[in-house]
Amino acid sequence: MELNSYSVANGLILGIETSCDETAVAVVKDGTSTLSSVIYSQQVHSKFGGVVPELAGREHERRILGVVRDAIEGAGLKMAKPQIEAIAVTMGPGLAGALMVGVAAAKALSLAWGIPLVGVNHLEGHLFAVRLERDPIVYPSVMLLVSGGHTMIVLVEKPGKYRVIGQSVDDAAGEAFDKVARFLGLGYPGGPEIEREAQFGDPKAVRFPRALRDGSFNFSFSGLKTAVVTYAKRNADVGVSDIAASFEDAVVDVLVEKTLNAASIFGAKSVALAGGVGANTRLRTVLTSRAHALDLAVCIPSRQNCTDNGAMIAAAGAWRLENFGPSDLALGAYPSLALP
Ligand code: KG4
Ligand code: ZN
Repeated sequence: MELNSYSVANGLILGIETSCDETAVAVVKDGTSTLSSVIYSQQVHSKFGGVVPELAGREHERRILGVVRDAIEGAGLKMAKPQIEAIAVTMGPGLAGALMVGVAAAKALSLAWGIPLVGVNHLEGHLFAVRLERDPIVYPSVMLLVSGGHTMIVLVEKPGKYRVIGQSVDDAAGEAFDKVARFLGLGYPGGPEIEREAQFGDPKAVRFPRALRDGSFNFSFSGLKTAVVTYAKRNADVGVSDIAASFEDAVVDVLVEKTLNAASIFGAKSVALAGGVGANTRLRTVLTSRAHALDLAVCIPSRQNCTDNGAMIAAAGAWRLENFGPSDLALGAYPSLALP
């Protein structure tokens, strides 16, 4: 395991992701091609309307080795001696107890199989998800990273060179979806539930506020959430589907507008989408059509590569390993890790 001498040009990487409520493991070849991807989405949190950190860690602990085995065997390999070249694992940001399970499992497998370990930043993993798809990214790219914990506009000059040019000053976009869904009596996670309900509603039924139209690239969603709650309480006759569709429209509107403004101001050649909220159909279609109208290339991963998965961690890990070498076995879990 010599530092900086490792090439994974044709190698297989195992990616392990346990930062939140998905126990996810994948085998990826060349950092781009997914051979297997297994995701166990924890169900224990649904009755609480949000992730309970203690339960998340315990569920990961129970599931992790089974999910690793399914991913290894799904790629046609054998658990006893898989032809894997390295193990990439999410080291942060995320829930401490959840991250620690993935990191400990990765270290144990790295020792047992005698292969290097590489710690991956979860946010960088999301940005690498587009590399698992066919279309190569044209740089510089403005990437909209929208998940349950983060909402950021990131200027990517090339892989590994990131500049955060805007972010949420309060709730993340996914958090707003989850909170509004909970208030409307829909299930958890709220994003897919709102999306399903919104199909039957009119996005123009209610004009909810679009916050921070101040020329900045920052976002604010807590006022929108309050506006939805207040409106719904005062207008019991208006259907949940109209409220869901109008809320979704307000979120998508600001996300797309600010991303495209950033692309134009920073001279980006493409815009890209990353993170769980990137699975939202309305966001995908509106961003695509408005970016194409401006002659910008659009890189949008498939829905399953937007939400948390092991393949994106393997993709980012392959690149990190090739460029910076493996991590030390003293690797820890870093709950508040920032984008490198
Ligand atoms: O990236 P992710 O899987 O986990 C984090 O890193 O947070 O994102 C999860 C978030 C949740 O808030 C979930 O409600 C949201 O992504 N989400 C969606 C959709 N699918 C997942 N939001 C809107 N529309 C969707 N279809
Ligand atoms: Zn995520």
